[in-house]
Amino acid sequence: MKAVPHTALQICSLLKTNGELELSLAEFEVPQPADGEVLVRVEAAPINPSDQVLLFASADLDLNTLRATGSASRPVVTAQVPTGALGNMAARLGLSLPIGNEGCGVVVAAGHSPAAQALLGKTVAVIGGSMFSQYRTVPVEMCLVLPDGTEPADGASSFVNPLTALGLVETMRSEGHRALVHTAAASSLGQMLNRICLEDGIDLVNVVRKPEQAALLRSQGAKLVVDTSAPDFEEALLAAIDATGATIAFDAVGGGRLAGQILSAMEASLARKMTAFSPYGSPRHKQVYSYGLLDGGPAVLERGRFGMAWSFCGWLLTYFLEKAGAETVQRLKQRVASNLKTTFASAYTKDVSLAQALSREEIAIYSKRATAAKYLVCPNKDLCS
Ligand SMILES: NC(=O)c1ccc[n+]([C@@H]2O[C@H](COP(=O)([O-])OP(=O)(O)OC[C@H]3O[C@@H](n4cnc5c(N)ncnc54)[C@H](OP(=O)(O)O)[C@@H]3O)[C@@H](O)[C@H]2O)c1
Repeated sequence: MKAVPHTALQICSLLKTNGELELSLAEFEVPQPADGEVLVRVEAAPINPSDQVLLFASADLDLNTLRATGSASRPVVTAQVPTGALGNMAARLGLSLPIGNEGCGVVVAAGHSPAAQALLGKTVAVIGGSMFSQYRTVPVEMCLVLPDGTEPADGASSFVNPLTALGLVETMRSEGHRALVHTAAASSLGQMLNRICLEDGIDLVNVVRKPEQAALLRSQGAKLVVDTSAPDFEEALLAAIDATGATIAFDAVGGGRLAGQILSAMEASLARKMTAFSPYGSPRHKQVYSYGLLDGGPAVLERGRFGMAWSFCGWLLTYFLEKAGAETVQRLKQRVASNLKTTFASAYTKDVSLAQALSREEIAIYSKRATAAKYLVCPNKDLCS
């Protein structure tokens, strides 16, 4: 086993009071694990949209406005956050925040407790924040032990997207719905959700925004895919919702008319089955959960089109896990660990070192959050490569 250094590097994001965002590699002292803790050498961590929220703080990431200073091994990138976006970020102004929700690595040191000692040498997935870091000390409970021989890249996305995809299905079931609608459905998470629904026999209406995304999902067995760019989108959405009886949707897009179009299609489908007219529309509850903000613009809900029994509100993995209870969470984690290379597999277009993740050119690419274009940070990859 390699010797553990005294200091290591991590990606940090500092938002200054004047709106300047500064991304850099910060050096920190590697802490020795306490009794119930382990020290993980982080080998792979995905750059998810949720990491980018903290990393970029709504800054303008145009290649012409991003500025690079520092050296090849210690890059510093600066950008400007629009003044209007600073208001709800008051609590982070002046703080240098370590980034990275989840990742995978090898336990290289452990505290005295038997549970910690048992993890020495194991490959573990961790959700604990600060994962774009060469080393991370975490409590044993934050680790998911992966089967021997698991490659860190295969375990890097073991929590955020898999547990969210499973959480959406659990939410659907617990709220009494039998089918669901999902937007930005060709995302990594959407592809996982499609596989879960195929395995579990759940009807899923996949909403995408390009024909090639529809083709990608169909090639993976998706039965119902509708494309917002098609001229007959609203008719196709209604037909798909009609065919499934879906009354719940999970929307990752956020801004624009899409959530309202889904509620309208659900209402229109239910109205077709009503035997008596009501000025309030169908009494059946229609639910859209907004769980992503890929489009940061305002959501436009054309209120008159979906009766009175509906709601539109937020959904977050953390809140779901808090409410789900330990037994459910353990069951979901176990399903993920047993199917990491199949149902819950993630693909990455590029592995980057900590320094490469802060290059202007790479930022301009991965910040687009495009289909099949996820990056993997490998914190212990050669910093200058
Ligand atoms: N609430 C939670 O707890 C939670 C947990 C996990 C994930 N999430 C959310 O789940 C979503 C998917 O995550 P991921 O890691 O799977 O993403 P990903 O693999 O990076 O894929 C992003 C997808 O979004 C599409 N997209 C990007 N901008 C869009 C826009 N303005 N309008 C419509 N589609 C757009 C992309 O399509 P194009 O190729 O057309 O750009 C791509 O298919 C994200 O919004 C993430 O924040 C939420």
